[in-house]
Amino acid sequence: MDQVNREVKHIKDHSSIHLSQETVNKLIHQSQEAKKQAYSPYSKFRVGAALLTLDGHVFTGCNVENACYNLGVCAERNAISKAVSEGYRSFKAIAISSDLSDQFISPCGGCRQFMREFGSNWDVYLSKPDGSYLKMAVNKLLPVSFGPEDLSMKKVFDIPNEY
Ligand code: THU
Repeated sequence: MDQVNREVKHIKDHSSIHLSQETVNKLIHQSQEAKKQAYSPYSKFRVGAALLTLDGHVFTGCNVENACYNLGVCAERNAISKAVSEGYRSFKAIAISSDLSDQFISPCGGCRQFMREFGSNWDVYLSKPDGSYLKMAVNKLLPVSFGPEDLSMKKVFDIPNEY
């Protein structure tokens, strides 16, 4: 087994995991609290995220923008990076909040891919400030995706090590 396979082997299918209504509401509330820390002086668009790990830990994140605009980081990616840097790679769900009153906040394409790295069958809760939400699995948000497993699929050409 090569290095990539060893790294991704732990990622399992968590789609069947059912969260209680109380857990979902709490996760959304935690994402709303995280939103209050948003550093978004340029876009004035606050986003918060709360990520629930398989063993019940919650990591939150907010968007952090920068005067060098393209260096800004999304709330979801911050929450995922916090979890991974603390040793957590298996996730049940992530809740996302913004200040949009009439729309469920939808994760950007980059964040969808970032989520997909850690499996495509876990749930994303897109919420509104009133606590209402839409639940969508990562594979629904990012169908026909490219992921870590693809790197080890059969190729017509293998680049030799000395390349
Ligand atoms: N943003 C997020 O944090 N998450 C999303 O899913 C959508 C966009 C942030 C990035 C930027 O700081 C601001 O919202 C406006 O795009």
